[in-house]
Amino acid sequence: MRKSLVHNQKNPSSEIRNPKLEKSAIRNPQSAIVLVTGGAGFIGSNFIRYVLKKYPADIVINLDKLTYAGNLENLEGIKDNPGYRFVRGDIADRELVNRLFAEERFDLAVNFAAESHVDRSILDAAPFIEANIKGAQVLLEVARYYGVKKFLQVSTDEVYGSLGKEGLFREDSPIRPNSPYAASKAAADLLCYTYYNTYDLPVIITRSSNNYGPYQFPEKLMPLMIRNALNDKKLPIYGQGGNVRDWIYVEDNCRAIDLVLRNGRVGEVYNIGASCERVNLEIVKLILKKLDKPESLIEFIEDPRGKAHDFRYGLDSSKVQNELNWSPRYDLEEGLDKTIEWYLAHQGWLERVITGEYLDYYRKVYGSNYSITP
Ligand code: NAD
Ligand code: DAU
Repeated sequence: MRKSLVHNQKNPSSEIRNPKLEKSAIRNPQSAIVLVTGGAGFIGSNFIRYVLKKYPADIVINLDKLTYAGNLENLEGIKDNPGYRFVRGDIADRELVNRLFAEERFDLAVNFAAESHVDRSILDAAPFIEANIKGAQVLLEVARYYGVKKFLQVSTDEVYGSLGKEGLFREDSPIRPNSPYAASKAAADLLCYTYYNTYDLPVIITRSSNNYGPYQFPEKLMPLMIRNALNDKKLPIYGQGGNVRDWIYVEDNCRAIDLVLRNGRVGEVYNIGASCERVNLEIVKLILKKLDKPESLIEFIEDPRGKAHDFRYGLDSSKVQNELNWSPRYDLEEGLDKTIEWYLAHQGWLERVITGEYLDYYRKVYGSNYSITP
């Protein structure tokens, strides 16, 4: 007898069975069975929340390994939704992915699962190759075998490399990744192209700029600065803080990903950005102002990224705007207000996600005299 996935879990208690899913073999033509990988992370959890609200008849299955960045608390409030189920597992585990596809016969698959932090990839590239390249290949291969209707790979503007002071990345800009993280994402994108070209797998790629909003792990710029400022700790800015990022509120990205998934053209890449470029120093000063904290908390540190630190990202998103009628709903002021409000209301979450592993990591990047504990 075939072993059920329930028995394959490292943590079986995290599996949630529910009646609607037991019946998912009886297909409702109005609904889709959607695989979301990496749904316990920042963007993935926001995306699941968005989909379950917008398409109450859809069934969403979240496959997540629960690395340091994955947290089931991010899905609090929807874990009992009859259209949702969590499966703990690794996208690079071919056997598990195969059994999951065999059981669920997904219509749509969205791959968020990845090692996502540039600084970590500089410390050790190996987990990035495993999750971001091998994991993507396993998903593509199994999706091909079971014939999903759409496979969306969540990629990043970092695959394009760095811009100088002028210009924007378009979908046909050359791929020139500079960090191991960016290279692993670029490799996955190339695999996606080849699965589309070679096997006609209906693949679409989105490449978004820097997301911010609720549930972002505090190793990334905005939540790290918010947490440190709230605790009156130093705010470590790499170099002189002159690097430029193009910011998008996470809900705007989720809405765009969903539009691309349902209505985008297969074999295409869609850039997703909100035309919101800011130098890092400006972002940090804005956070301090909104929290009513002094700029004296800022400390400029030697750039741990060195040559791998891309100077500037800026996305031309006219394709998704013109083809799919998408535009961002939040500007930086409004998005940052919502973000700060969320972190202020979830300080318990902020402290709970910081484990000993994170403190070790923090010491490696920022040095041992740079404490973030009280
Ligand atoms: P995140 O680090 O917050 O979450 C990643 C999630 O993937 C975690 O829940 C983790 O447990 C899970 N995961 C990691 N390896 C896995 C594996 N092998 N199998 C199953 N699950 C695994 O990341 P995020 O910021 O939410 O990013 C999500 C995706 O979006 C990533 O693919 C990232 O490259 C891409 N992206 C992120 C941004 C951004 O600004 N955050 C921008 C553009 C693209
Ligand atoms: O552009 C999309 C990418 O955005 C995603 O693909 C990545 O998954 C995501 O992590 C993000 O990458 P960045 O490296 O741009 O994000 P991060 O928040 O780590 O850093 C933003 C900028 O802030 C960058 O120029 C480095 C700087 N920085 C970051 C940290 C954590 C600091 O100056 N100090 C810090 O402590």
